[in-house]
Amino acid sequence: MPEKISILTLFVFLARITLLAACQQEAKELPHKKVDYIRKIEGPSDSIPVLVAQRGEVLIAYSDCYECHTREVRSKGPAFTDIAKRYPVTNGYIKLLGLRVINGGSGSWGKSVMLPHPKLSPEDAETMVKYILSLK
Ligand code: HEC
Repeated sequence: MPEKISILTLFVFLARITLLAACQQEAKELPHKKVDYIRKIEGPSDSIPVLVAQRGEVLIAYSDCYECHTREVRSKGPAFTDIAKRYPVTNGYIKLLGLRVINGGSGSWGKSVMLPHPKLSPEDAETMVKYILSLK
């Protein structure tokens, strides 16, 4: 009788090990979806005059941007350096991003929402964007 029990125990033990190994195998082989957060847009980039970038940096410091953004690290909003990595410096993208800052936005970097900044002039918003895009 004790012999029977030990054989049963051994069998259960072996079955468990086989199952465990199979599970681990499965976990290893599960395909992983690559999530590209930056989604770089290819294209030639213009340069940004240093004085303009500096003016943009000051405008940003006096606005609420740093409540949700930092220069290097993703927080509520994307890091400024990540935004710079995605967009080439062209008039078109500067205008587009200026409008996004004024109108607010969501869905381009995730689910968080950027509040609108209706009091900003397009010129100031674009100068801020130029500073951000200069951080390449
Ligand atoms: C309430 C938080 C918040 C504030 C304040 C804020 N942002 Fe944002 N910002 C975000 C979020 C969140 C996103 C990502 C939106 C998205 O996924 O479309 C974002 C995205 C951006 C983008 C990229 C837009 C795009 O479509 O790729 C720029 C440029 C930007 N912000 C600039 C600014 C500037 C300049 C200011 C200050 C005037 C500012 N933000 C203030 C939260 C904020």
